[in-house]
Amino acid sequence: MIAQNIRPGDTVIDATCGNGGDTAFLAEAVSPSGHVHAFDIQSEAIQATYARLQKRSLESYVTLHHCSHEYAASLLTDKEKTGIRAAIFNLGYLPGSDKQIVTSASSTTAAVLSYLHTFPSGVPVIVVIYHGHPGGNAERTAVESLAAELSEQEVRVLRYSLEFQEKAPPYVLTFEKTGEDTPGLSKLVQAYSHISTKG
Ligand SMILES: C[S@@+](CC[C@H](N)C(=O)[O-])C[C@H]1O[C@@H](n2cnc3c(N)ncnc32)[C@H](O)[C@@H]1O
Repeated sequence: MIAQNIRPGDTVIDATCGNGGDTAFLAEAVSPSGHVHAFDIQSEAIQATYARLQKRSLESYVTLHHCSHEYAASLLTDKEKTGIRAAIFNLGYLPGSDKQIVTSASSTTAAVLSYLHTFPSGVPVIVVIYHGHPGGNAERTAVESLAAELSEQEVRVLRYSLEFQEKAPPYVLTFEKTGEDTPGLSKLVQAYSHISTKG
């Protein structure tokens, strides 16, 4: 899905780099002239991602940010922000690591809203939702509540899911701002006062 939206030269965000699988994929897709901004709160994830990128000589196409993803808008320059072409969240815990450290409802919703508000219209904000782990259901509910609160005139939300599976398979919500005049979105940004503006 994301590959359909990006090409060499683009700037993209990996909001949860984890072990770097998505980051490496994105770096390869936007190289040699594009860039990936990748975020994770765990140093273990940042190190794993760097090692993976280095192995494939992709590290120069990526800036690794060891902080929470909702700071992206305050860390990037205005030029970088207007150049963003896609963002992806892969929610849940770092595979092979501490399953207690998971993405959270508050930072995920704050970040999704901030990206929609800050980045140009037409940029897909892709959220892969895993809800089978403890806390996953609360996060899923929060992301879906946000989706329901957004004005359908301002943001288009698409859902992609695997059906007829025994376990709780992940599914995808894609958010896309449809224009630059978004009074409803601006109001929501204020209402979600937990959104930080600090870098
Ligand atoms: C499912 S893993 C990501 C997998 C990764 N995309 C890959 O390809 O390996 C989720 C990651 O989100 C990270 N995370 C949790 N809360 C976060 C936050 N607020 N900001 C950025 N990353 C966060 C976790 O540390 C974990 O590494």
